[in-house]
Amino acid sequence: MARMWYVLLASCVACAAFLSVADATIIRLNCETIDEKCLLKNVFATEDDRFKEIRNERYQSVIEFFDCHIHTLPPIPYINKVKADAINLVRIEENTFSTIHDLDVSYNRLREFSPDSFEYPEELLKLNLNGNPTLKDFAFLSKLSGLNTLDMADMKLELELLDTGIFSKMSQLSRLNMSDNRITSVPVGMFAPLVALTYLDLSRNSIAKIPSGTFAIAVTHGYEEYGLYHQALHFDLSYNNISIIENNAFTHASKINLRNNKLIGIGQYAFDNRTALQSLDLSGNVQLRNFDFLHNLRSLHDLDMSRMNFSFDIESTPRNIFDDLDSLTMLDLSHNHIGEIPIGIFAELQSLNFINLRHNSISHIEFGTFSMRKYDLIDEIDLSYNEIKQINFLVFVPLKYLKTLLLHGNKISSVNAKQLTRNKSLYNFGIQNSNVRCFDLIDLLGSLKLVHEPNEFISHLPNVDGIKCQP
Ligand SMILES: *[C@@H]1O[C@H](CO)[C@@H](O)[C@H](O)[C@H]1NC(C)=O
Ligand SMILES: *[C@@H]1O[C@H](CO)[C@@H](O)[C@H](O)[C@H]1NC(C)=O
Ligand SMILES: *[C@@H]1O[C@H](CO)[C@@H](O)[C@H](O)[C@H]1NC(C)=O
Ligand SMILES: *[C@@H]1O[C@H](CO)[C@@H](O)[C@H](O)[C@H]1NC(C)=O
Ligand SMILES: *[C@@H]1O[C@H](CO)[C@@H](O)[C@H](O)[C@H]1NC(C)=O
Repeated sequence: MARMWYVLLASCVACAAFLSVADATIIRLNCETIDEKCLLKNVFATEDDRFKEIRNERYQSVIEFFDCHIHTLPPIPYINKVKADAINLVRIEENTFSTIHDLDVSYNRLREFSPDSFEYPEELLKLNLNGNPTLKDFAFLSKLSGLNTLDMADMKLELELLDTGIFSKMSQLSRLNMSDNRITSVPVGMFAPLVALTYLDLSRNSIAKIPSGTFAIAVTHGYEEYGLYHQALHFDLSYNNISIIENNAFTHASKINLRNNKLIGIGQYAFDNRTALQSLDLSGNVQLRNFDFLHNLRSLHDLDMSRMNFSFDIESTPRNIFDDLDSLTMLDLSHNHIGEIPIGIFAELQSLNFINLRHNSISHIEFGTFSMRKYDLIDEIDLSYNEIKQINFLVFVPLKYLKTLLLHGNKISSVNAKQLTRNKSLYNFGIQNSNVRCFDLIDLLGSLKLVHEPNEFISHLPNVDGIKCQP
């Protein structure tokens, strides 16, 4: 009886009416149209209840279940998208969908997904299965040959337990998200059928090693230029437990994120030298000491080597470490243990625009430290939070295009404006959190812009334009 009362109430509020027949209930589903969507609100159904077909009289292209608690989905008519997340779904039965392009069943308790759920399985383009840790049988995926986006994050997945042919028909798949699972190893060849892949997210797993061939995917969407294969293919392997990357682990790749792993060795030919790898993030790998693989990365634009416990020790770091990075524009060496910068270490970086040396232990910059043999394109140098007490600003004068020089948080007490502004290209100067004299800052104002650290504007102490100084 209590249930009947609830039902009557719900039918007013949510347009969902219930007809009680024997013990099972037949639930009518009427759309409430909000934001051009068919919204089905406050539907509660047990395993025994049955549904009447959804009445979507205005032919909205999206059906969304909101604040519902239903065991299995009702039959869904021809539709573009169904959003059925966090409604405690346990099962998706056969013949649930006819034509559907986008299905979100994330954060449910799915245990069963019938391989015959879709009348036209090849028409599904997007599927979100995130947060269904109890789903173990993925046979239904093998028919979804038209998918371009598949989300399988946060599902406690282990790849060894999946059928190795799971992706064999997914030649259209562009984005695959398997982050936040329990993946410890990647079976060689499993991803090979994904020839349209542009983004593979395997971050936040426990992958320990990347053997040869693991990410050998012969993508079809690239092109060849000057003997290099260009493609958009991004691998996110951050926050794993990777210690070794073997030779030929990656063939095609444009961007690889290896942040916060436990790397100790990367094979010299780990990244195919015929692929245009443009971005590599190694930050947070504190034990990596052999960088021979860098010599094969002639297309690399961005290299992040921050937080690696890195220094230019004569014993551990060869002087030619950066010599073949012809295309490198951005080098991040921040948060390391760099004390000395050997003269000439950057000399071959003919494309370099920005070098970040923040948070190291540098105390001295010598003439020629940033000189380039071929082109000199350096535009920004960040030496903030080092141990510089005194600096001869003339060392920056030969850098013809230097526009931004950041020296925040050093122990510099005086700035020679004449020297610093001698080259007119310098425009932005950062000197916050130092002991500089206000007098010097005033001298700079005429020709430079004093830049702040984000959200740091000093107003309660002696300052020039918000930069603290000694009166
Ligand atoms: C993968 O899914 C996780 C969890 O939902 C999300 O945080 C992450 O941004 C997704 N990755 C991509 C590349 O969309
Ligand atoms: C990471 O790898 C080390 C061995 O290199 C192993 O002892 C440890 O258990 C692994 N951690 C996880 C979370 O898998
Ligand atoms: C690419 O690597 C191979 C070894 O795998 C080497 O023999 C070849 O000389 C390299 N090519 C270039 C252009 O560096
Ligand atoms: C950092 O490197 C030094 C040697 O340069 C080494 O003694 C130390 O153990 C390293 N720290 C970590 C966290 O690996
Ligand atoms: C400063 O750099 C410019 C190029 O931007 C150059 O023409 C000029 O000679 C330099 N000035 C001095 C004083 O070195």
